[in-house]
Amino acid sequence: MNIINSVEEQEKLCNRLTDDNIKISLIPTMGNLHLGHESLLKASLNDDYRIVSLFVNPLQFNNYKDYENYPKTIKKDLKILKSYNIDCLFMPSKEDMILKTNHDIERKLPDFANILCGKFRKSHFQGVYSIVKKLFNIIKPQKAYFGKKDFQQLLLIKYLVKECFKNNIEIIECETIREKNGLAMSSRNNNLSIKQNRLAALVYNELVSLKKSLKNNNISLFPKLREEIIRKLSKQDIKIEYLDILCRNNLNTPTEKDIDVNIFVAFYIGDVRLIDNIEI
Ligand code: PAF
Repeated sequence: MNIINSVEEQEKLCNRLTDDNIKISLIPTMGNLHLGHESLLKASLNDDYRIVSLFVNPLQFNNYKDYENYPKTIKKDLKILKSYNIDCLFMPSKEDMILKTNHDIERKLPDFANILCGKFRKSHFQGVYSIVKKLFNIIKPQKAYFGKKDFQQLLLIKYLVKECFKNNIEIIECETIREKNGLAMSSRNNNLSIKQNRLAALVYNELVSLKKSLKNNNISLFPKLREEIIRKLSKQDIKIEYLDILCRNNLNTPTEKDIDVNIFVAFYIGDVRLIDNIEI
């Protein structure tokens, strides 16, 4: 596996590959790879040339402590990437990615980036948008892989591809991978104790029963059920940041007629913040 740390070198390599008509796939990550990432690596197995980027993007953390505490497991990550025959790992420095270049950090994002996580994590999506745009410009992928757990991020990336890359990058959406108890895989799960992990899985159970109730009845029941769930979980010290039902393709508030809807949740267990969503 080729390991590249410099933007210039990565650009040169990708220009060469593009000139030779070799199709590049990109799997962007912040490292600390888990089974969720592995599902992206698996999904790309038959692609021509697969590049994984590993960059803990300071621009998308609204809290410096959270950025500093982001788990780093590079030795384990390298093993995983090699086991999936990844062709190239792009692991740039903060200087190269952030300090030496202009950023799209001030760009006005679509309204859907200001709700859910966008409301509670100021500038988070500006940071994601800016760094993924930069990665796409350096690597020029034909395909890029993202997980549905970060559903709002996925919509933003599709918006970016339409706005800046004429829809010329195919975005491959991969399903959320869950632990045995239902908790969505996330690097942040590492920061949970065993007891907290069990508590976090209760939120998923609630999403599943909510899904059943709404399917059997209709979404007008949502506000009442929502209050009940928030009350019930708060007794277990689970603090719900948001719990919403929204249209899957644009995050608009659904009407009774809308059938393509997801439930979105963000919650805290202690000081660990987690997100999840499920289709109804
Ligand atoms: O989902 C992530 O790991 C990050 O938000 C991403 C897409 C790598 C951008 O930094």
